[in-house]
Parts: sequence; structure tokens; C-alpha cells
Amino acid sequence: MEISYTNQIGVDFNKLVDSTILKRAFIIVDEITRELCLPLLKYPFKESQIIVIPQGDDHKTLESAQLIWSHLLNCKADRNATLIALGGGMICDLTAFCASLYKRGIKVILIPTTLLSMIDACYGGKTGVNYLGYKNIIGSFYNTEKIIIDKLFLKTVTREEFLSGFGEVIKSALIGQPLLWDLIANKDFLEDLVDLDIIMNLTLSIKKEIVQSDPKEEHLRKILNFGHTIGHAIESLFMDLGSPIPHGICVVYGIIAENYISKKTFNYSNVLYKEIKSTIIKNYKLILLSPQDIKSILGLIRNDKKNSMDEIKFILLQKPFKPLIDVAVSDDIIMESLNYLNTFWNQ
Ligand SMILES: NC(=O)c1ccc[n+]([C@@H]2O[C@H](COP(=O)([O-])OP(=O)(O)OC[C@H]3O[C@@H](n4cnc5c(N)ncnc54)[C@H](O)[C@@H]3O)[C@@H](O)[C@H]2O)c1
Repeated sequence: MEISYTNQIGVDFNKLVDSTILKRAFIIVDEITRELCLPLLKYPFKESQIIVIPQGDDHKTLESAQLIWSHLLNCKADRNATLIALGGGMICDLTAFCASLYKRGIKVILIPTTLLSMIDACYGGKTGVNYLGYKNIIGSFYNTEKIIIDKLFLKTVTREEFLSGFGEVIKSALIGQPLLWDLIANKDFLEDLVDLDIIMNLTLSIKKEIVQSDPKEEHLRKILNFGHTIGHAIESLFMDLGSPIPHGICVVYGIIAENYISKKTFNYSNVLYKEIKSTIIKNYKLILLSPQDIKSILGLIRNDKKNSMDEIKFILLQKPFKPLIDVAVSDDIIMESLNYLNTFWNQ
């Protein structure tokens, strides 16, 4: 996976992706990135096809994949075709998923346009779609030909989506990067951060290091799922209820609950525990889960890809910055952690 950084995508796009590829390329965008990001490429798209998917994670589906595959077939795309994702993690995951299966695999280039996709989702070869209310439950591992990162796209990202990106930054710091944690602890992410470049580089480099040592998530890579077991279930539930919450914000809620379980299980440092709490309270709004929501979340966790039939396994922090994988946790403690999440902001 080659990563190129640019700060003038309009000038560099043509150099980074050569014209023979562009002639056979299909650029996948959502409605928002078509309007806000596509013009920044400054490319006269006479040759490439543009495929537009409705925005939002509830469109990371097999139906959207079918739309892309039908378009490729209608245009008689062959094995030399390339898919180019221009969007956030939703478009990147969906595009790579489609590329991995069309004619047993065609090339894919990712141009991430949100903070979350630049620091996390673009790298690591995980592709997927949501299915029957479960996040990323159908998917594949597939290598990206090229990733092009340009912070210029971030100028139009909403505050909420920017904070969502920071959900993955917090996770990356807590699973083993005290240096990164020091840069973000007790900061207001929208006002105080002057070191965004360093934060972005550090976050992506943690992911690179972990993925390179365990590309298929057989062991170490599982630590990247800290906060995600509960986070994914919250994300699926609220998507299903028709009031979606951005992915990285659900990861923050997942971190609160899983950090509670970590502390309860291993009784680790109070200092870090307090710092996590104050940093999250400074930046994120509370969530309130009804007893029915809590029941549904538990049901969704039971079907998470990471769990075997009878045990719910978590990635927990056994001490500051030291995650432990595959820790079995009882239903009662999970329920307790979700009740704790409800009271987190007023303790
Ligand atoms: N493959 C992986 O390793 C991996 C890792 C983490 C997350 N993910 C996935 O990534 C997805 C979340 O990604 P996301 O947070 O980027 O969400 P997203 O792709 O849904 O984008 C969030 C919103 O921002 C809009 N947007 C995108 N770029 C914009 C821009 N430059 N300006 C203004 N608006 C813009 C989108 O249209 C959308 O409305 C989830 O599906 C998650 O499962 C994948």
C-alpha cells in the first residue's frame, strides 16, 4: 500500500494517478463528496465515470455495492478497470469491497476526505458493508493500490465529523501511544489543537505498524478494536432507529464503557482513568440509553464478528496503554458498563 501526501490535490492528482488508469477509472463519491470534494481534483472527468452513492453509513450496503457492480457491467469494465474512492470511511470501505469482488479483484485507489478516513479507515485492507443491522459483517481483506491524503478536504468537514475522527485518535493513543495521549489529553479538539499534522501522522503510523505485523487480524491487530465492541453495537442500534451517530463518536461511547470494564477487571491507574473522563467530557455530548436500548445493544454484541458463540470477548486495558485481547466479560458487567455510560456526564 503506497501512501502519497499532497497539499495541492488539484495539481498533483494527474501526476499521482496516470492518464491510462484514469481512462479506465470509476470514481465513487457520495452526494456530499461529489459536491465538495470532486471539484478540488480539478480533473476534466471526460474519461472517468462518476458513480454517486447516497451519503451515510446506512448506505454502506449490498444494494449500494450492486449499484456499483451494475454500473461497471453496463460500462463493460474489464479487469484493467480501477475504482477510485473519493469520500470518508463509508465510501472507502464500500469501494474497496466492490473492487475486491468484481471479476475476482480489480485495482482500487483511496482518496479519504474525512479526518477519520485519513487517519484510520483508509489503511489496512479491511473492506466491508453492513448487513441485517450488523456493522461490517460482510467483508474482505483486500490491498489498496494507492492512498492519497490531502488535508485540504478537511476544510469542509463538519465539527461533528471532525470530533468523530478524534474518536479513533483517542483509541489509538490508549492502546499504546502515551506520546499521542499527551498531545490530546484535556484539550478541546476544536479549539486547542495546534499539532494536527503530528496527531494525524502518529495515529496513522500506529495503525500501519500494527497492521503490518498482523494483516489478517489473527492476534495483535485485534487491539485496534478497543472501544468498538460496544461502539459498533451503539452505532448499529441508532442507525436502525433512524437517528445515526457518526462512527467515531460511537467509538468514544464504546471507549467509556469498555474503559469502565477494564478498570473493574484490572483496577488500573486512576490518573489515566480520570484524564480520559475529563478529555471526553470536554469534547463530546452525553448519550442516554433506555433499558430497551441496553437490551438491544447486548443482543447486537452477541452477534459481533469478534465473539465466539458462547462468550463475549473484549479488548481491555489491563494497565495504562497496555491492551489485552480476548478477555471474556459477563452480560452483567456489560449491562453495568452501559448504565455507567448513562451517568458518565453527571458524576
Ligand atoms: N476499513 C477500516 O479499517 C475502517 C476503520 C475505521 C472506520 N471504518 C469505517 O469508516 C466509516 C466511517 O467513516 P467516516 O467517519 O469518514 O464516515 P462517512 O464516510 O460516512 O463520512 C461522514 C460524513 O462526512 C461527509 N463528508 C465526507 N468528506 C467530506 C468533506 N471533505 N467535507 C464535508 N463532508 C464530508 C460524508 O458525506 C458523510 O456525510 C464507517 O463505516 C466505519 O465502519 C473503517
